[in-house]
Amino acid sequence: MNTLDTTSAFLQQLLELAKRAAIKAGNYLNHNKDHQKLIYSETDKDIKLEIDRNSEKIIYEELKGTKISFLGEEFGLKKKSEDGLLWVVDPLDGTSNYFRGIDQCCVSIALMRNELPLLGVVYNFNNNDIYYASRGNGAYLNDRKIKVSSISDKSSASLTTGFPASEKTKNTLDFLGDLSRWKKIRMFGSAALSCAYVASGKCDVYLEKGIYLWDIAAGICLVEEAGGNVKKELIQNDLYSIKMSNGIL
Ligand code: IPD
Ligand code: CA
Repeated sequence: MNTLDTTSAFLQQLLELAKRAAIKAGNYLNHNKDHQKLIYSETDKDIKLEIDRNSEKIIYEELKGTKISFLGEEFGLKKKSEDGLLWVVDPLDGTSNYFRGIDQCCVSIALMRNELPLLGVVYNFNNNDIYYASRGNGAYLNDRKIKVSSISDKSSASLTTGFPASEKTKNTLDFLGDLSRWKKIRMFGSAALSCAYVASGKCDVYLEKGIYLWDIAAGICLVEEAGGNVKKELIQNDLYSIKMSNGIL
């Protein structure tokens, strides 16, 4: 495993496996989206559903045969191995949207080696769009190659972001001041889909502070393979500040 060649047929096999796992979990989520949703836990800004946990179990069952370590949002780290390889999984990104019946939610699966995402899959089960990429092999949406936009001016560009609720007032005011310089601001409520939209040129920049690795790991691979630029900084504990762009803005 240590010598995993990023252009190898083996990486492509893992990508196909990750796509199958995302589709299986996504279909399960889609078939249950109009049913009663049991809340597993709710805090000030966060909601977790029973179905998030079921989705993670489905994905784990699909991927466990690879014997690669597994980090999921719901159950944490399954096992830590020496080879640096790690599945990083958000079994439902955009849980609040899913709960309220808004079709901006998805399954996100990445394979990382140490800090580097080797492959990423983001599956929007609501409309069957599957975004995927593997290191050195480009990024795709439903088998069509995608690339980031070429917009170079904020006044023509779309920024997608989440509101930095945990930020200090001064930073929040600076952030709000900057918003007026963009043509459009979008808050989709799904970090993984925001990344996919930058990768496919539907948005130009994605910016968020206080985000977890499972929200963005697959998206990093998508954006980089689509020709974009990623800046990721660990700000506290497991929380990151992230900027993904078309590489110009
Ligand atoms: C959330 C979404 C949201 C972002 C939050 C995340 P979850 O993920 O990605 O867009 O603003 O910070 O926690 O909880 O729906 O998986
Ligand atoms: Ca989630």
